[in-house]
Amino acid sequence: MNTEQLLARRYRLLGKSAPLFYERPLHLVRGEGVWLWDAEGKRYLDVYNNVPHVGHCHPHVVGAISAQAATLNTHTRYLHETIVNYAERLTAKFDDSLSRVIFACTGSEANEVALRMARQFTGGQGIIVTDLAYHGNTEAVAETGTAFMPEARTTRRVRSFPIPDSYRGIHGLQGAALADAYADAVQSAIDAFAADGIKLAGILICPDFANEGLLNVPQGFVEKAVRRVRAAGGVYIADEVQGGFGRTGKHWWSHQWYAATPDIVTLGKPMGNGHPISGVVARADMVEQFGAWGMYFNTFGGNPVSCAAAMAVLDVLERENLLDNATGVGAYVAAGLRRLQRKHAIIGDVRDKGLFFAVELVRDIGSKEAADTEADRLINLMRDRGVLISRVGRYDNILKMRPPMPFSRDNADQLLQTLDECLAAL
Ligand SMILES: Cc1ncc(COP(=O)(O)O)c(C=O)c1O
Repeated sequence: MNTEQLLARRYRLLGKSAPLFYERPLHLVRGEGVWLWDAEGKRYLDVYNNVPHVGHCHPHVVGAISAQAATLNTHTRYLHETIVNYAERLTAKFDDSLSRVIFACTGSEANEVALRMARQFTGGQGIIVTDLAYHGNTEAVAETGTAFMPEARTTRRVRSFPIPDSYRGIHGLQGAALADAYADAVQSAIDAFAADGIKLAGILICPDFANEGLLNVPQGFVEKAVRRVRAAGGVYIADEVQGGFGRTGKHWWSHQWYAATPDIVTLGKPMGNGHPISGVVARADMVEQFGAWGMYFNTFGGNPVSCAAAMAVLDVLERENLLDNATGVGAYVAAGLRRLQRKHAIIGDVRDKGLFFAVELVRDIGSKEAADTEADRLINLMRDRGVLISRVGRYDNILKMRPPMPFSRDNADQLLQTLDECLAAL
């Protein structure tokens, strides 16, 4: 089956609105570590996929999944040691106040549970998000999807504030003044709910603001915003579906970059290295109250095979020192990207956090006009030269790079050299 035939069959069966990457869609057949191979045997360096967190098809994870699948797979309504062992090991990585976990299968489900829990606990309905948010695809979560979900346009129980972006800013403000301006915008959302007679339930943010473009957040903003939300009776939900499990190097969780501990944290994508497992880690009193209100059961969520996969991910992260690798190689990549910024005028801003990078392309450094078509061309050129990246942001002009965690300096050199060549070829 060649790629053209496969594409035609896919269009016939899945339709053309099922999203596909690249002008010429990529037909992948195998993965190993940071590498992917297409149907013609061409090898690609994966600088985009964060789900295969410890590397594509890591033998320890594959072994754990197959051993457990060959022994028993049921669900969380039976006792099973691996489920409890994993819950213990996972919650130990959080602040003492975050001591309970609920398992699910996807990030959307985890956020759905978080919204229900926050609303049930506070008795409120109002949720505050950024004006460029994506947190998943269930109906309630879609209401928070101000980036592109239709439900977000009509709901009354979600309000947004402008993305806290030090690069583009508000009226030239900087530092603490900018943080205050964004915190005031959160306060405006709180006040607007009050004026509407809608009680606040909380704020839901990805602490990295990953889908918003991996923002460089004005220092103090998150702490101030959370303080205002709590003062108005709401809770703080941190969506760690993208940034969790050490992606940002210094900490296990992205919210730890700020001096504000969430009430609820949601996990997903990298948790099972591709095996579908997600979770909600929250305050014990909130989980208790939620459970007393109505039973939550998820047939597949946190089953023994899923927990074996997730446990194996923690093993590899620890044994292979992958958080330190994210910090060390991350800094190396970031330095290289800043060198490219000095060479190529189209790079307006470089942002990095561990092994997470955003490169914002602009046509003019002064006006910051978004170079969206250039970004699109660039990721296709990179693909042709064997390096996979993507783009995000309000204008789709921000290169997004989030490689598997075993990314090495050699891999970084290949990324930087290919990016240099493609920028020159634009
Ligand atoms: C920050 C964030 N939260 C939640 C989700 C939803 O996760 P899932 O696709 O597993 O439902 C995503 C998916 O892209 C995400 O980026």
